[in-house]
Amino acid sequence: MATIKGLLKRSPDTPEAPGVHPQALWSFRPRSDREAGDAIVSNLLLHWFPSKVYKPSLDWSYSFWLGTASAALFLLLVVSGLPLLMLYVPSVERAYQSVKDIEYVVTFGWWIRAVHRISAHLMVVAVALHLVRVFLTGAYKNGVGQGQCREWNWVIGVVMLLLTLFLSFTGYLLPWDQLAFWAVTVGTNIASSIPWIGPTVRELLIGGRTIEQATLIRFYVLHCIMLPGALGVLFAYHMWRVRKDGGLAKADHEAVLANQQPVPPVASKTYTLLGVARGTAPTVKVTSVEAPDLTVSAVPDLTRRAAIVVLATFALVSILASAIPSPLEEPANALVTPNPAKAPWYFLWLQEIVTDTTIRIGSFTINGAFLGGVILPGLLITLLTVWPWLDRSSALSTGRWFPKDRRTQNAMFLALVLLVLVFTVIGMFLRGPYWNFYWPWEAWPEIPARI
Ligand code: HEM
Repeated sequence: MATIKGLLKRSPDTPEAPGVHPQALWSFRPRSDREAGDAIVSNLLLHWFPSKVYKPSLDWSYSFWLGTASAALFLLLVVSGLPLLMLYVPSVERAYQSVKDIEYVVTFGWWIRAVHRISAHLMVVAVALHLVRVFLTGAYKNGVGQGQCREWNWVIGVVMLLLTLFLSFTGYLLPWDQLAFWAVTVGTNIASSIPWIGPTVRELLIGGRTIEQATLIRFYVLHCIMLPGALGVLFAYHMWRVRKDGGLAKADHEAVLANQQPVPPVASKTYTLLGVARGTAPTVKVTSVEAPDLTVSAVPDLTRRAAIVVLATFALVSILASAIPSPLEEPANALVTPNPAKAPWYFLWLQEIVTDTTIRIGSFTINGAFLGGVILPGLLITLLTVWPWLDRSSALSTGRWFPKDRRTQNAMFLALVLLVLVFTVIGMFLRGPYWNFYWPWEAWPEIPARI
């Protein structure tokens, strides 16, 4: 009988073991560039990789493979979402009970729900970190120029980040418990603070004046069909653009460097026959235009690393899902307002800004929701989107961590990221009833639920 080790080692010439499919396990080790290229052509899953990649761009410490981890989490969300789709009932009378059944009755239902929940939270984190990495390495800039449009991929990325946040937000409501109901109430209330059109925008979002059946079905369709579909299409385009831009920006950096280095002439040919006549040996010196080849075959160099990242992401989510129980509070009740009512964690920095920009002069209050909840984040997203065109640093700083001429903008960007983080932590752990500040060791006052 063939052992697993034997299967992995078998060369293409070794006769096949009876009853074992030759591709049951990954056993491909190309012996030449030709074989490596053929693997891409003949395997459907490998088609989206180029046959050759720039070796330095595979470094773990360049991209941390955060884009690949985000994609793996998206895949996990789709796969774990399918069984949930079959068991969940999108009706205000039955939604809560169907989630309770998934959690307590369906075999391994709790685990599938936990995998879905943890992947959703981790995806927000991974995509945000991916954006930070792309910004800090200036990977939205073109290095070699021809045919590149990295700025465009950055803009697509910003849209993907917003879609990821909205995908997570729409999923938040589905369990139809108190946590879900009030988090979505706080989130959508921010929209209603836009002057004139605010209430209409909120109505459009939730399908009426209050959060009820029309909201649930709207969020359900957005969450299960429209947003994942849009994200899937944009992801395919995102990856196509990475290829059209010549791989990761790190490759550009090396290419620009190579172009700038004068290539010293090397001895090419010595005419010894002439030397016999004159006692000397004239040598022709030429300048080679070929840069040293730093490329490697995508199979197996890139595919092996991608497989490690995907499997490690799956393993991490499995472990966390087994260890962290998914919350399910009391069924949603529009008449009982929890105090404090908090938005989902990734919007808490906005909730914090909204509170901090609310100005009270005596009994007069200027509501900060418009400034903190709409103007500031709107400005931030606009600035983020157009930043590649405002960044005037040299092409040499593309695809490099902390280059000198991007020091100021990187420092400003990191300060902004830190501010968002601090506000998120304050919102998560240090805000109590009436959004007052409490240290973690301080007890909250007893406040009866508002009915
Ligand atoms: C669902 C969300 C996203 C997924 C699944 C995703 C996936 C990927 C993958 C797999 C790569 C290849 C390299 C890597 O692993 O880093 C990549 C590169 C890239 N991504 Fe994303 N991405 C997402 C969101 C974003 C966002 C939010 C931005 C920025 C606003 C962005 C901008 C870019 C750029 C500019 C590159 C090229 C990087 C370079 O050349 O070094 N992506 N993305």
